[in-house]
Amino acid sequence: MNIQWFPGHMSKSFKLIKENLKLVDCVIELRDARIPYSSRNPEIENLLGSKKRIIVFNKEDLADTAISQSWKKYFLENKLNILFVDLISGKGLGSIKNTITNVLQAKIFSDKQKGRIFRPVRTMVIGIPNVGKSTFINRIAGKNVTAIADRPGVTTGKQWIKINPEIELLDTPGILWPKFENELVALNLAYSGAIRDQIIDIVEIAGCFLEKIKERYPEALFGRYGIDVLAGNNGIELLELIGRRRGCIISAGEVDLYRTAGIVLDEFRAGKLGRITLEKPSDIDIYNELNITTKVLKEIGKNAKH
Ligand code: G4P
Repeated sequence: MNIQWFPGHMSKSFKLIKENLKLVDCVIELRDARIPYSSRNPEIENLLGSKKRIIVFNKEDLADTAISQSWKKYFLENKLNILFVDLISGKGLGSIKNTITNVLQAKIFSDKQKGRIFRPVRTMVIGIPNVGKSTFINRIAGKNVTAIADRPGVTTGKQWIKINPEIELLDTPGILWPKFENELVALNLAYSGAIRDQIIDIVEIAGCFLEKIKERYPEALFGRYGIDVLAGNNGIELLELIGRRRGCIISAGEVDLYRTAGIVLDEFRAGKLGRITLEKPSDIDIYNELNITTKVLKEIGKNAKH
């Protein structure tokens, strides 16, 4: 898959996150519940160091409930602090305050023990593009948008939103760049809308998407587009069939693949194909194998040059 990427933006936003990290006690990392693994930036652990983290899987309303359950089990087994939420309805978000307090309990307790003056704990949101960072901040802010002045001696120029008397949230999110660990992860990111459509070949992406959906959710293809499991040998053929059904025709009866690709991806992102999750915990093993292969191939390529 050919994607133009901008490393300059990436290092600038990492730098910004690093600066803001110094001001907070805990980080809320947003991820997409439809791609719980691919929507992570693999460098996050390095970036956060020992900083406490809560992972919030958003867009739960669009995800496959059964697969979300297996992801919850997987992450809990890995001892991570997680929440699955739907930020449009607010479902699942009710426990965020308790989760933050629980995660920072030891710190709050030790501050009290040391007789330190009470200060609210501070947190910030980070995540890849389009994952719902602004929606999260707006929802949490609600009526509490009034900016809180910086504390004396801390002239950061930052705006903080009071979640409750004990918790404050930085009003600007940190943008993490998605990482294309391998082709499958890159494709998942493209399907979800985390990569702008302008920089990818959407016909190619929609084709790959349809092949995946045909394999994992054939009923969705039938339900939305009337496409039979046996129809279409590859993604482009499926795209053509859909284009014809939707009347996306250019001259001489030729299907407008570009327009059809846009329709298919938009409909998936809006949940019109039903609840779909694009990866399961078991896919991680496949990714790991692919990563090793990619690494080996890169090494071979490097050696070949010298
Ligand atoms: P970002 O700051 O991380 O880039 O993401 P942002 O909050 O702008 O959200 C990206 C898109 O995802 C928005 O839709 C937003 O409404 C949608 N969204 C956020 N949370 C959820 C959720 O839990 N469920 C669903 N279904 N959608 C969610 P948009 O169409 O790009 O913008 P808008 O027209 O809704 O404003």
